[in-house]
Amino acid sequence: MPRSALLNVMTQAAMKAGRSLTRDFGEVQNLQVSMKGPADFVSNADRKAEEIVFQELTRSRPDWGLLMEERGEVTGADERHRWIVDPLDGTTNFLHGIPVFAISIALERDGEIVAGVVFNPAMDELYTAEKGGGAFLNDRRIRVASRKSLPEALFGTGIPFLGKGDHARFLYEIRQVMGESAGVRRMGAAALDLAYVAAGRLDGFWERDLLPWDLAAGSLLVREAGGFVTLTDGSKFDHMAGEIACGNEPLHKALVDQLKKAEAARRS
Ligand code: IPD
Ligand code: CA
Ligand code: CA
Repeated sequence: MPRSALLNVMTQAAMKAGRSLTRDFGEVQNLQVSMKGPADFVSNADRKAEEIVFQELTRSRPDWGLLMEERGEVTGADERHRWIVDPLDGTTNFLHGIPVFAISIALERDGEIVAGVVFNPAMDELYTAEKGGGAFLNDRRIRVASRKSLPEALFGTGIPFLGKGDHARFLYEIRQVMGESAGVRRMGAAALDLAYVAAGRLDGFWERDLLPWDLAAGSLLVREAGGFVTLTDGSKFDHMAGEIACGNEPLHKALVDQLKKAEAARRS
């Protein structure tokens, strides 16, 4: 199926940034022993990838605004359109030489996400979706998983870490979900977690304390793959709200029920 002009622009930007990240990823291991340490190198790789995405997107749509992790908000003359970009999602994986990271690019039109691209260059996996047009992995249509019961469901999540998130609350949630499901994975790149739900690899995903660029493209992928997407309490999703619960219809519901049980236990 030929890609739309819009998805072509987004894909080209993601792939060009991907080539830059791939080169830098190859260097990361050599740097574990360098003087400055690999963290500076990775933040440089991150900035370079963002610059490439910025140049590509603004070259093809000069009037549109952007919200980018490193650069922040860039207002455009056209107030209806805004790109939402994470040039490197999965920074900690990248730093540790784990090939689970991605570039995430979404287009917001009048406050709604209408197109999304998530690209993992290390695995050469390109996920794309446009509102109403379905979701694709390397141009093959993808659907959320068809599994229905909690005991066979594999969930993804994000574990809070040093200086981030509500650790005590997460422990209630993981205790609840791990005791009822086939397992929980922490992949380390929220945009890819969402792509994995869209591709039916994970049956559902939840995470709190996220940012718009973690959620924007991936949430559209899940929806366009036939999934349900809400906030963690089951209420209407908002990509600016910093949290998500998603999955196919029955397992999304089961997941939200488990999170409610965890919340009740926390409050008791
Ligand atoms: C992070 C990843 C991770 C999530 C963190 C995010 P970054 O993004 O998506 O999976 O748990 O909360 O900050 O920092 O690698 O772009
Ligand atoms: Ca990032
Ligand atoms: Ca991120």
